[in-house]
Amino acid sequence: MARVFSLLLVIVLGLGLISSTNKKVQEPWTAPGWTDSLYNPYNLEPLTLPQAQEIYNLKCIKCHGTQGQGYPLEHTDQEVPNFKQDWFKAQSDGAIYWKIREGRGVMPGSKSTLSDEQLWQLVEYVRDLSKPFDQQKNPFKVVGE
Ligand code: HEC
Repeated sequence: MARVFSLLLVIVLGLGLISSTNKKVQEPWTAPGWTDSLYNPYNLEPLTLPQAQEIYNLKCIKCHGTQGQGYPLEHTDQEVPNFKQDWFKAQSDGAIYWKIREGRGVMPGSKSTLSDEQLWQLVEYVRDLSKPFDQQKNPFKVVGE
């Protein structure tokens, strides 16, 4: 009986060791190259940013925050990026559009829940959030917490 217990102990400790060494460091998320040539067929109109803000407040703000600063998430190793970082801003609109469509890990993809127009509106919105607060065009912009 004691042998069975020590065997179990070894297995349990072993599994613990495997899962702790398996902890992933987040890989950079790179959109496929072809997304750089995607063309936004919608023009920026006066209501684009306010409309996108409504969707963002419903679906995105809980992880990304009012100013796109990103919150630390529990129960995952994934980090929420800050949209004001240079590497984020350097991406093409198409790459951002693709990432919002597809999602990754805890971030849900929105291709089956949002229209194409809503997805492009969110691209504009996220771009607006990536600017310094005083340069943002959204008339209803909210200071970050
Ligand atoms: C459950 C939390 C969560 C929700 C909800 C969420 N996101 Fe994310 N988002 C993340 C995380 C975490 C990442 C980083 C993903 C990675 O790199 O693996 C991310 C990444 C992104 C990126 C890409 C950043 C990069 O790597 O360039 C964009 C753009 C984005 N989110 C926009 C949105 C939008 C728009 C919505 C709402 C439609 C949304 N997210 C909803 C957690 C979330």
